Formats: sequence, structure tokens, C-alpha cells
Amino acid sequence: MSTVIKGGTIVTHDLTYKADVLIEGGKIAAIGPSLSGAEVLDATGCYIMPGGIDPHTHLEMPFMGTYSTDNFESGTRAALAGGTTMVIDFALPAPGQGLLDALDMWHNKSGRAHCDYSYHMAITWWGEKVFDDMAKVVDKGITSFKHFLAYKGALMVNDDELYSSFQRVHDLGAIAMVHAENGDVVAEMSARLLAEGNTGPEAHAYSRPTQVEGEATNRAIMIADMAGAPLYVVHTSCEESHEAIRRARQQGKRVWGEPLIQHLTLDESEYFNPDWDHAARRVMSPPFRNKMHQDSLWAGLSAGSLSVVATDHCAFSTEQKRFGVGDFTKIPNGTGGLEDRMPMLWTYGVNTGRITMNEFVATTSTNAAKIFGMYPRKGAVAVGSDADLVVWDPEKEKVITAGAQQSAIDYNVFEGKSVKGLPRFTLSRGHVAVHDGEMRSQEGHGKFVAREPNGAVNRALSQWKELTAPRPVKRSGIPASGV
Ligand code: URP
Ligand code: ZN
Ligand code: ZN
Ligand code: ZN
Repeated sequence: MSTVIKGGTIVTHDLTYKADVLIEGGKIAAIGPSLSGAEVLDATGCYIMPGGIDPHTHLEMPFMGTYSTDNFESGTRAALAGGTTMVIDFALPAPGQGLLDALDMWHNKSGRAHCDYSYHMAITWWGEKVFDDMAKVVDKGITSFKHFLAYKGALMVNDDELYSSFQRVHDLGAIAMVHAENGDVVAEMSARLLAEGNTGPEAHAYSRPTQVEGEATNRAIMIADMAGAPLYVVHTSCEESHEAIRRARQQGKRVWGEPLIQHLTLDESEYFNPDWDHAARRVMSPPFRNKMHQDSLWAGLSAGSLSVVATDHCAFSTEQKRFGVGDFTKIPNGTGGLEDRMPMLWTYGVNTGRITMNEFVATTSTNAAKIFGMYPRKGAVAVGSDADLVVWDPEKEKVITAGAQQSAIDYNVFEGKSVKGLPRFTLSRGHVAVHDGEMRSQEGHGKFVAREPNGAVNRALSQWKELTAPRPVKRSGIPASGV
């Protein structure tokens, strides 16, 4: 069956123009004036954009003694409701577990997905088996490897492991990713805060100041440079980390930064709310920051020094958050945001003039597709691309409330916020998953997307020099032979 989207304005990361879009067999078959098809979607007054790609989610993730509540069913339903048509989740091997086993586990969970998905592979331990498995994982279309510098005693890797893995990433033509917080320092600060009787959720923020993120970001960038691996820094939340990314990019390094919609729009005052539940529901790592850091992140989006807006969707119920009553270190870390990322970024970014519509498309979809090796199959409005599209109504408004959300948790960190700019239709490979605000998505419709290696090298500056420098002279006092 063919579908035509009529009367709208196409907005891509670089173009804005009026045209109809014809969809056949789940792909974009034609773009142009006066197209016709069996099913007609009226896009009058709307923008036709690539569906959102959220490259940072944790669905049904085993973490801190529990599992994140949104799974591939509720999580991807929430994604589509908010205009996001693809997620990249993290496959997380247990210590000692092979990467292919972890991948099987994630494939078993994702069969219920309503929209397309892929995975990054986390490197949670190091050994010959991991080294060998990494190549097999790349062959299966998983071309990005995540490393945690935080969560000491659980997911954290040390610098020797990080350097080994980054070198392997380089050799495989893949991308390294890093959660950049200094886990050793966080563990020390947390222990001291607890010993001093600071047990509440606000101590979570005290235990993870911006310096721990700035230090780890700088360290990861330098180690990636030495190993020659391109580096994607997840949940960049502060100026210290952004500054390191900016500097690296100016130096020609392949480094990308990813602010979250939560850090852009919510600040640290949330942790000082006298309601324990309110504060604990917002406990995530890194924590929310002050306005100065928020301004830095917004500036990074318009300047291009930060590339992707994600959610790190890792949703825990209030009941789960209460595991940490009396000890903030036991509050499961994570917040939701999949359904609200695009309406919130449009409202606080496009409607305020901080970013343009084209920058909105770049940072919610196209940049992630390019960085993670699936452009223009995803992230594009182009003939031959998957018909993952959102028909965006800039006049449509709502107040965000947990009662009306798709996510399975019992609250929403954006509760009470008014948004203007929402999907009229969301299409997942041509299937109309959201129709005038009504959910018509199908459980199991989502498919795994195998990705290509990015192809970008991050050749260390020293290596470029080696290629061009004159042959070295021995410094022993005796001239090197032949010189
Ligand atoms: O607090 C967070 N961000 N939880 C999810 C896991 C991670 O660190 O990304
Ligand atoms: Zn993280
Ligand atoms: Zn995460
Ligand atoms: Zn379908």
C-alpha cells in the first residue's frame, strides 16, 4: 500500500522546502509536488522531518540491584508518541560474560519493540575473549563500544583497560563511547558524605561535581587520541566537559558531545526540593547542573561543538527510587525522557530562537545517523531512505503529565511543563504509529538495524607528525648511520 504525505514543508538538517512525500514498501519512493497515493496524510501547516533517533537509551537494563522499568515495548511506544522512530540501546555484558552472549540477551528483549533499534556494545571488563568478540560484534553491525569511567566496582573500567579497548576500536574502524565521570573520586566523595550524615538525594549531586566529569572527559579524549579511536562522549552536562570536547574538535580530533534534554532544561535546584521522592526521581549521573552549565550546552548546540541531543532514558519507578531511602548511593541512577525529548527541545530550543529548525533535525536525528553509521537509511528525508518520519505540528500544545504518558513509570521529570510543537503523525518504516495524537503503533514492528563502521579515523597528532617529520637523529652524540 502507498501513503502520501501532502501539503507540508520538508525540513532536513540543511534544507527547508514545500513538497509531498510518497511512501511505498516502507521507504520513501518520491518527493515532489502533487503526488498521490492510496492513503493520504494531511500535513497542512506542518513540518515533515526525519523521525528522531535517540542513540542513548537503557531499556530493561539490569542496574543497581533492579531493572529499569521501561522495556523495549513501553520505551519504544513512548519514543514514537514523541516523534522518535529509532533508539540505540546499550547491550551490557556482565563481568566475565562474552559479548555475543550479551547480544543474544538484548535481542531477546527487543523483539517487542514498536520502532527500529540498534545497540552499542558496552565494554565492562577486559580480556582476550572481549578482544576477540569485538570483531564479531562489528561483523554483526554493532560498530560502537561504550566504556564507563564511573560506577566503581560495577561497570567501571580502568585506564589500562580503556586504552586497550580504544586501540581495538581503532583497529576495527569502530567508535569509542564514554561515560565520563571519575568513578574513583565519586566513590571517595560518596563515602565521606555518607559518613558525615548526608544521606539524602541532594548528596548525589555533591558527590559528582563538574570537575569529576571534566577530568574524565579530558582523560578519555587524550587516551582516545593516543589509541587513534574516534570518541563520542555521552551525557555531556557541564562546561568543563564541553570545553574539553570543543578544544579537541578545534584540534581536528574526532570527538562528539551529547547533551541530554534533561540537562538542557532542568537544573540542580530539583535536588533541593523538600519532597524526597521529587528529588530522588531526578537522581541521575551526571546530575543536573546550574544555569551557567545549561547555557554552555545550549551554546554548544548552536555552535556545533555539541552534536546530538539524547535522553539516556533509564526509567525507574518511585518504588525503585526508594531503595535509596537513608543512603543516596542506593537510589537507582536514571531518568526518563523518550516521549518528551523532541517536544521539549522544540519548545525550549526552536520556539525561543536558540536553535533553528534545521539544527533541531540535525541534533535529534541526522547527526546520530551519520556518527553511528546508518545515514541516509535513517535520519534523512530522501528517496530510498526508510520512511521513518514525523509530521510535526508547530501549533499543537500540551502540558506534560505522567497520567497521559506512554512510559510505564508513575511520574515524569517534566511534569507540568507546557510544550508547543508535537507530532501530528509519526511513521515507522511507513507504518502510521501516531495518527493525530492517537497511538496506532504495533508491538514487534521494530527491526534491528545493522550499522556500518563510521570510517572516521582519529589519528593521533603524533602519528600525523610521524608521516611528515624528517627521519629522527640519534641523540647519543654519535650521528645516526647515514645522516
Ligand atoms: O544515571 C544514569 N545516567 N543512568 C543510566 C546509566 C548511565 O550512566 O548512562
Ligand atoms: Zn552514563
Ligand atoms: Zn546511559
Ligand atoms: Zn507495520
